[in-house]
Parts: sequence; C-alpha cells; structure tokens
Amino acid sequence: MAKKLAVIYGTGFGNTGIMAKAIEEGARGAGIDVIIKKVEEATPQDVEKADAIAIGSPTYKGAGMPTVIRFVESLAKIPLKGKVGAAFGSYGWSGEAAGVISKMLKSYGMDVIEPDLRIKRIPEAEGIETCRELGKVIAKRLRNVL
Ligand SMILES: Cc1cc2nc3c(=O)[nH]c(=O)nc-3n(C[C@H](O)[C@H](O)[C@H](O)COP(=O)(O)O)c2cc1C
Repeated sequence: MAKKLAVIYGTGFGNTGIMAKAIEEGARGAGIDVIIKKVEEATPQDVEKADAIAIGSPTYKGAGMPTVIRFVESLAKIPLKGKVGAAFGSYGWSGEAAGVISKMLKSYGMDVIEPDLRIKRIPEAEGIETCRELGKVIAKRLRNVL
C-alpha cells in the first residue's frame, strides 16, 4: 500500500496555500498518497492515519497562525514518534512560523526534515519548484524509513 502524506496548512492570503499545493504535487508525482486540508477542516485522525505530515503556516506578528499552532498542540496526544514531519510557510520579513512548528514536531519525536521551508511573499516559479522538491524529499524519506 502506498505511504500517506497529510498536508495541513493555514493561510491568510493564499501564499502558504500555494506552497501546500506544490508540496502535494511533488509527493503525488513520487507515488505517495496525499490528503491536503486547510487546518480548519483537519483532525488529529488525519495525522494519525498518515505516515508523514507537512504543516504550513504564514508568519503573523512574529508567530504562527493561532489556528495552526493550536492544531499542532492538539497532536501531543497522538503517537507521532518515527513519523516523518516537515514545516513550511510564507513570510514577509522575519518568518518565525515554520521554525516554531518544526521545533514542536521534533519535540514529539518525529523525523523532521531540515531545514524547514520558508518562502518570501508570493511563491514564484522557483519557489513552487522548491516546494515540489520538498514533496519528493518527503516521499523518498518514507521509502527509506518505512
Ligand atoms: C498583520 C500582518 C502581520 C504580519 N507579520 C509578519 C511578521 O511578523 N513576520 C513576517 O515575516 N511576516 C509578517 N507578515 C507577512 C506575511 O507573513 C506574508 O504576507 C505572507 O506571505 C502571508 O502568507 P499567507 O498568504 O499564506 O497568509 C505579516 C502580514 C500581515 C498582514
């Protein structure tokens, strides 16, 4: 059975959403099953069922979106050790969100892909390609680990 990636993200203006869709494309192209959800529609069960998760948030006021951070906090009660994790997000100037999420995923014992992926403002062709690459890296990591 194909390994599963859950891409879960928040976005204010759509920039982190563009990143999420490109990560999805990259992983799908590498033969992984992918579900992609906005954080408002995601549940911890989506994460429980997945072999890897990519969590995205833009940076607002030096932090991640509260909805995304709360969701990641809610994952503390499910077993995540050994699952592959990745954090990503669009930013304007300081870009803390992806770093915060990455640290939280590591604290759960996940195998976190580093560095986290931050793209300034609207992802252009090059940034979209970098996101697709992250999708492929996640797929490759799943094949090696599991
Ligand atoms: C009210 C507000 C506060 C922001 N604060 C930050 C910030 O502290 N650091 C930063 O890097 N970008 C900041 N930004 C820029 C956003 O992160 C940037 O526009 C990003 O592309 C938004 O992504 P989204 O389209 O996924 O919401 C802020 C933007 C707004 C509107």
